[in-house]
Order: sequence, then C-alpha cells, then structure tokens
Amino acid sequence: MARDEEAAGRRGPPSYGGEVNAFIVTTCIVAAFGGLIFGYDLGISGGVTSMDSFLMKFFPSVYRKEVADQKQNMYCKFDSHLLTLFTSSLYLSALVACMCASTITRKYGRKLSMLSGGLVFLAGAIINAAAVNVAMLIVGRLLLGIGVGFCNQSIPVYLSEIAPAKWRGAMNIGFQMMITIGILAANLVNYWTAKIPSGNGWRISLGLAAVPALMITVGSLFLPDTPNSILERGDAAKAKQMLQKIRGSDDVDAEFEDLVRASAAAKKIDRPMRRLLTERRYRPQLVFCTLIPFFQQVTGINVVMFYAPVLFKTLGLGQSASLMSSLITGFFNVIATFVSIYVADRFGRRSLFLEGGIQMIICQVVVGGMIAGSFGTSGTGQLSTAAAVLVVVFVTGFVMAFAWSWGPMGWLVPTEICPLELRSAGQAMNAGVNMLFTFVIGQFFLSLLCHLKFGLFFLFAAFVVVMTAFIYFFLPETRNVPIEDMGEVFRRHWFWRKYAVDDDDNNKGGSAPRRSVELK
Ligand code: BGC
Repeated sequence: MARDEEAAGRRGPPSYGGEVNAFIVTTCIVAAFGGLIFGYDLGISGGVTSMDSFLMKFFPSVYRKEVADQKQNMYCKFDSHLLTLFTSSLYLSALVACMCASTITRKYGRKLSMLSGGLVFLAGAIINAAAVNVAMLIVGRLLLGIGVGFCNQSIPVYLSEIAPAKWRGAMNIGFQMMITIGILAANLVNYWTAKIPSGNGWRISLGLAAVPALMITVGSLFLPDTPNSILERGDAAKAKQMLQKIRGSDDVDAEFEDLVRASAAAKKIDRPMRRLLTERRYRPQLVFCTLIPFFQQVTGINVVMFYAPVLFKTLGLGQSASLMSSLITGFFNVIATFVSIYVADRFGRRSLFLEGGIQMIICQVVVGGMIAGSFGTSGTGQLSTAAAVLVVVFVTGFVMAFAWSWGPMGWLVPTEICPLELRSAGQAMNAGVNMLFTFVIGQFFLSLLCHLKFGLFFLFAAFVVVMTAFIYFFLPETRNVPIEDMGEVFRRHWFWRKYAVDDDDNNKGGSAPRRSVELK
C-alpha cells in the first residue's frame, strides 16, 4: 500500500477532465469490434478440430489414430502436433504482423491498421470456409493471423488514446470484452454446427468469422483518428479540433499542450523499437511489455480456451456435457469481464492483478489435486460425476479470475505505460510476445500434458505465484494518470526511479519535456 501510494503519488500527475459522451462511447465500441475477430479465432478452432468430418477430410491419419487408440492413458490421448498446428499456426503469422503493423500504425494512423486487419481477415475467413485441401486451410489461417496481428497491435493503442484518463481503463477493457464475446460466440456456433448432419458444419464455423471481420472493416471507415495520431502526422489544427470533439469541450488546452510536447519529442525518435530494446530509460516499458504478455499466457488460460471440450471429455464427461461445460466457462468469462470494467478505474489495476492471481492459484491447485487423486501418474481412472462437476466449477473460477485480472490488464497496462514515441512499438512488443506464447501453449500443451501429467496444472500455478509477486513489487498503480504523464509514476517508484530519474537529460534525446504541474 505504501508502495502504491508512493507510486501513484499523493502529488500525482494532473487530471485533464473530459467526460464520456455518446460520440466517444460509439467510437470505442466500434474500435473494440476488432477484439471479436481475435476472440472468435481463439474459440472456434478447438470445436472444429474435434469434429470428425473435419478430421476425416483434412487430417485422416489423426482421425484414424484417435479412433483406433482407445487404450492410451488419458494424459496422452490427443497428443498430435499436426492437429495442434492448425490451431496455433495463426498466432505465428499474427506475431509477424504485429511487428509490421507497428510502422503503419505510427506513420499512417491507427485506423489504417484496423482497416487492413479487417480486410485481410475477411479474405482468410472466405478461403477457410471454401477450403478443399490442407493448403487452402493453412493459407486461410495465415491470413486470419495477419488480420489478428494488425488489430491487436492498433486497437489497444487507439482505445487508450481516445479515452479520457478517468475512463481509460473501462474503455480499453472494451477490447477484452469483445474478445470474450467472440470466444463465447464461437463456442455457441460450434455447439450448433457440430450437430449438422451433412458434416459440413465446420465450413459454417470457419466462414462465420467473416461477420466480425465485416464489422471492424466497415466500422473502421467511420472511426475518427486519434488526436495523438493526427499530431504525429503533422496536422496540429485538425488534432486540436478532434480533441475538442472527443472531449466534448473547447477547454482542452492543457491536454493539448502535453500532446504537442509528447508529439514533438516523438518526432525526434527514429527506430522506436530499437530504442525500446536498448535504452536504459525505457527499461520499465520493455520489462512490462514483454513480461506481462508472457505471464498472461503462462497462466494456462488458453488451455481452457482451446482445449476445454477435450479436457472435460478426457475427465469423463460425455460429449454434450463437455461442450455445455465449455459454454458455461465461456459465459462466465464474459460476465466476469464486467467486474474489471467497474473496478479498474475505481480501485486500480494492482488490486485486480493481485486478487485475480490468488484466486487463479487456488483454482489451479484444486484442479491439479483432483486430477492427481483420480488419475495418478498412470493416467487411468475415473472421476465421479460429482468430482467432474467440481472440476468444472473450479475451472470456471479460474476463468473468472483471469477475466477480471490478467485478461483485460494484460492489454491495458502495456499500452498506457508507454510514452507516445514508444506506444506503437511497445504495443507491437506486447501483442507479439502474447501471440508467441499463445502459439507455444496452443502447440505444446497436449504433449506437455502427456509428459508432465497433473503436474502441468501445478506448473501453471507456480507461474502465477511468481507473476503475482512480480506485480506486487514492481507494478506502480496507473489508475487515473493521464497517459502523457505516465513517466511521473515511474519516477516515483522505489525500483524504477533509478531508470527514469535522468529523464530530463534524456529529453535531449527526445522524450517529452515535463511540464511543471501543480499536483493535487
Ligand atoms: C488473452 C487470450 C485469451 C483471452 C481469454 C485474452 O486477454 O490474450 O489469450 O484467450 O483473453 O478471454
């Protein structure tokens, strides 16, 4: 707490005001549509790869193995790299796309990245729905990945810039909200298409990705560019007008003044990614933009998102009960995200991270313990129905904890801590590391389960212990701090101050000069 106060500072940075108006709410909702395409992808592949007709058509050897291999221990039943590659390959192309999108976002604006992302994603969805061979499937997946990469890089930046400081948390969490809605929509679609007798249900599942793609493509045509981005591209008068419009007031001088300074500083910076990687004063941003997404993924959340139906089935629930259980976790994933919208700007990011972390540890240990008790190391055994239901309850508790902590905060904090000159590069790093470890978990979870058995759940729990401690000691509270004044928060932090302290000297190199402000 003392650390917290020290970080946020009783004499914290200034507040610019700015209320939520209809224009800004609509804008943020439209921008957050981009989260739908990511969520839909996260949620759709698990169900599709469990459809027999899909496996028979594209992965016949996997299908034969699955049907023939009834005697394997439960930990290793679904261990197939070929199949998991279908799920995870998308995140590899997304990783590359994030890095390229960073330049487009910075030089040509956040809107163009969103528009390009939506269009490429649309093409991917169409190719996937029409796929007649594995090559078409893979090309489609790669295009989807490019779309996801562009949107995941640009949308969190866009949302953080357009929102007034007071509401930045809530508005940015709109992105996570759309991700969870996308996942739930995908679960529902799979639940329905798996039952289509022709066996072509998977085409509908994959093709319906075109719907969120159209929403963000068309939506992005109507979105305003952010004042930060307009300024970055040199049109001060237009940027000020836009700021007045989105704040719903002519009295924006203080905020605009800071934007201009930040933008002038940003202009002096070339090769921002390189600076992020090499300059000492950007060490806090580098650490958070790499560790937060890494930690977010090693919670094991995507084990549930990708493999929940398989996992529940493996634990002894029937096919339909397994799909239903996945729908239940998907539903609570959406509901719990509302909690973070409410809490993030009132009680702060740290409280969410810390509570969520503790709850995740408890749930993981209970689930791991129950699996160990019933299946041991041999992988043979059975959970009673009551025990299986209890597992579903604790998995849901885990998903809810993630949904109000590391899920939304994992996208919010890295964007809001970067100064303008680094924002695009910082978010590319955040989204890129996120995609990399989404790929790793997607690709290797099933074989890790085969080797580590129930111990895998304890391994995830151990990661959550480390990351919760990391947040406790190293993350300053960023609630209510105007985004252009974030440097102040680091200058007051017990650990980061030694990196940020020479910021004035660094201004010669380009960081925004500090306005001397009378702080409340
Ligand atoms: C994560 C995804 C995850 C989703 C679950 C997002 O914040 O980046 O990997 O599947 O939350 O809701």
